[in-house]
Amino acid sequence: MTIIYEPQPAAAERLVALLAGLPGDLRTAAAPAELAALLDADPAEALVVAGPGTPPADALAFAADQRLARPWTGVVLLSPEADADLLRAALRSGVREVADPRDPVALHEACARALQLSLRLVPASVPAAGVGVGVVDGGDDGRIVTVLGTKGGCGKTALATNLAVTLARTARRGVLLVDLDVQAGDVAAALRLAPERGLGDAVGLAGGLDEAGLASLLTPVWPGLRALTAPGRPAEGDRVDGELVGEVLALARRTFDHVVVDTPAHFCDPLLAALDATDRCLVVTAPDVLTLNNTRVALETLDLLGHPAEQRIVVLNRANSPVGLTIRDVERVLGAPVGPHVPSSADVPASLNRGVPIAVDKPGHPVSRAIADLAASALGVAQPPAPSRVSRWRGWARRSAHE
Ligand SMILES: Nc1ncnc2c1ncn2[C@@H]1O[C@H](COP(=O)(O)OP(=O)(O)OP(=O)(O)O)[C@@H](O)[C@H]1O
Ligand SMILES: [Mg+2]
Repeated sequence: MTIIYEPQPAAAERLVALLAGLPGDLRTAAAPAELAALLDADPAEALVVAGPGTPPADALAFAADQRLARPWTGVVLLSPEADADLLRAALRSGVREVADPRDPVALHEACARALQLSLRLVPASVPAAGVGVGVVDGGDDGRIVTVLGTKGGCGKTALATNLAVTLARTARRGVLLVDLDVQAGDVAAALRLAPERGLGDAVGLAGGLDEAGLASLLTPVWPGLRALTAPGRPAEGDRVDGELVGEVLALARRTFDHVVVDTPAHFCDPLLAALDATDRCLVVTAPDVLTLNNTRVALETLDLLGHPAEQRIVVLNRANSPVGLTIRDVERVLGAPVGPHVPSSADVPASLNRGVPIAVDKPGHPVSRAIADLAASALGVAQPPAPSRVSRWRGWARRSAHE
């Protein structure tokens, strides 16, 4: 998502450390050809940070090219001695921010602002990196995956957000994450979004919602991923009924490759409408007796509702918690087979607190790998190997050392 362009290895290393907290991938390029190759490989690349070792004239020429070729890719120029002339020239070339590399806070803030703007500008039709790798295309209509779990706090939002960013890596037409927890939705908080519009605003469009109307309700999250956030106030949530949810999801599946639906911890009209439209239902549970009993009742309720059992996959979250239950115990209590396991890790709440899903921030983490495996085994969407910041950086450093 961010490329640091810096010919001097020591300066590049310092920038990698300073910008490590930015969302998404961080890559480095030391030469123009390397930068061009990285940009070619990822049409949705959001930001290029031109380090202090870059001649300002080169950075300005590059920014002017990008402004026409791919206006969503921002350029931040780092210069310790930006005088009025350089600032004026930077502005004319389309550089988004000029920051002093000696001021880490200002530098980080400038890059975060530029990234945020890129995410708003990148068209949904521009695919994220890795597009076409392992994509299993189900035809013209996208697939709806509903994440369900009737025990509050069992991990629905953590799973839905991470699954959505994981699927967005390979989706040609992008992914939509829908928050159907209409009374207390937390997708916006989990991703640190500040939505201008959302599902509550769909009420006024009910019965006549079209693609442009739906697009106007969405908030960009990462390249290839948009969110339809829950209403901000419970009273607005009361007005979102099943019919509206059915209309939204029918339209969304025509526009996106995958629609991931996060849900409340109880059966309600919007959830039932989502289940009617759902292709895969991920039933989230955890290895403690209270959650398991709760999940068993939820599975029985789904049976009573006539929901087809073959569409369901039970996901065991916090699977490695040392609670003295074997998988056989879990399956006995549930009366159903258990599918993918997602391990427990303190990095999950930490990532939610930061607003950056762990699958974005740490793609090689066991939780991220479990979610990539889930996308592959449960949804048939094979994932490319996880990009690793550290290994990319080491590879770059090794190459530079031999140049
Ligand atoms: N695998 C995991 N390891 C550690 N913590 C986890 C894991 N999954 C979820 N959590 C934590 O559990 C808490 C509840 O998770 P989350 O909000 O995703 O649950 P939920 O089912 O969406 O809750 P609600 O029913 O309130 O919407 C969060 O603090 C989250 O970080
Ligand atoms: Mg939730």
